Amino acid sequence: MLGVGGGIAAYKACEVLRGLTESGHDVRVVPTEAALNFVGAATFEALSGHPVHTGVFTEVPEVQHVRVGREADLVLVVPATADLLARAAHGLANDLLTSTLLTARCPVAFFPAMHTEMWEHPATRDNVALLRSRGVIVTEPDSGRLTGKDTGKGRLADPQEIVDLARLLLAEPRALPRDLEGLRVVISAGGTREPLDPVRYLGNRSSGKQGYALARVAAQRGAEVTLVAAHTVALPDPAGVDVRHVSTAAELRTAVHEAAKQADVVVMAAAVADFRPANRADYKIKKSDDQPDPVISLDRNPDILAELVQNRLPGQIIVGFAAETGDERGSVLDHARVKFRRKGSDLLVVNAVGEGKAFEVEDNAGWLLSADGAERPIPLGSKAQLAAAMWDSVVALTKR
Ligand code: CTP
Repeated sequence: MLGVGGGIAAYKACEVLRGLTESGHDVRVVPTEAALNFVGAATFEALSGHPVHTGVFTEVPEVQHVRVGREADLVLVVPATADLLARAAHGLANDLLTSTLLTARCPVAFFPAMHTEMWEHPATRDNVALLRSRGVIVTEPDSGRLTGKDTGKGRLADPQEIVDLARLLLAEPRALPRDLEGLRVVISAGGTREPLDPVRYLGNRSSGKQGYALARVAAQRGAEVTLVAAHTVALPDPAGVDVRHVSTAAELRTAVHEAAKQADVVVMAAAVADFRPANRADYKIKKSDDQPDPVISLDRNPDILAELVQNRLPGQIIVGFAAETGDERGSVLDHARVKFRRKGSDLLVVNAVGEGKAFEVEDNAGWLLSADGAERPIPLGSKAQLAAAMWDSVVALTKR
């Protein structure tokens, strides 16, 4: 079920609806009366293929609020206005949406959007805390452009991010507990680029999707997140995350070490170039018939993960990633075990890569190796599911 509140961001609920129906989900839309000032019922009916009502006095024999609430596998509220959060927190049931919220027994997730002052008001803070204390998910809004020319915290999370989190909750209803509250985490993501000349570089095929999923899930589990992002495919900045964009391995190294000084957890999900061209040409390298073809010589880049392990703060948890293909000398897991010993991190997330696996795809599978010798397989699932599994292991380590 997709509840829609009466805020300007209601138009983005259409994109969320589209994303959910396109991935095969059957969605009932329940807007508030106010939401229909922003988007007409016909739009929601056309996109969902179901009739749309706002009150409990239509189709009375169907007892809609009970039926919709009982049948739903997931309730999303997009956008959640301050008024809706208040009504939900206090159990009001004065329209179809709030009545349904009381009958739903599945996970319920609110995606807030409002002006910064409204989000920060003690009344809203208390309502959010009350809802969260009951296990209801209230996600962090994004920062950025609000309704008019103003900017600040209170912007609706990107629709793609909402669809992603919805898929996660449908697969794992308990994937977003607020168990990272008070933790500062640093995540590196994407692939670095090492310039050869002003127009060419050595790069890799990392999309950044796994690192972004880690950041998104950590932020929604309550962590304070810094995301050091090298090159990625076009991805929206995760809501509530401090994103720092970098390009080369050297820039990524500086940004990660700087952020790691205050971090409780550092996760190296970025695909960092092991080598960089020894010389960067100031001008575009030209081919020429009377000169020999150029030969590129490479210098080794520092191993950032190894440096982090060496300089770790007391109690700091460090997580590495390993992308392996396996070869005649050993399987993916054999190579990963050797790498884990060499790197000395607390956890190693192992992905099998190559032909359609891990890089540039939506789903991921692998293993989670822990320093105590445990090897936990991660079944094929979305990158958000892998992220949730990794954060579960990190939480277990914080309780040692
Ligand atoms: N890594 C790093 N600095 C580098 C290279 C890699 O911090 N210069 C980190 C990656 O972010 C990842 C882990 O090390 O968390 C393993 O990366 P991977 O490329 O699988 O391993 P390498 O150490 O580069 O080993 P190899 O390429 O020889 O398999």
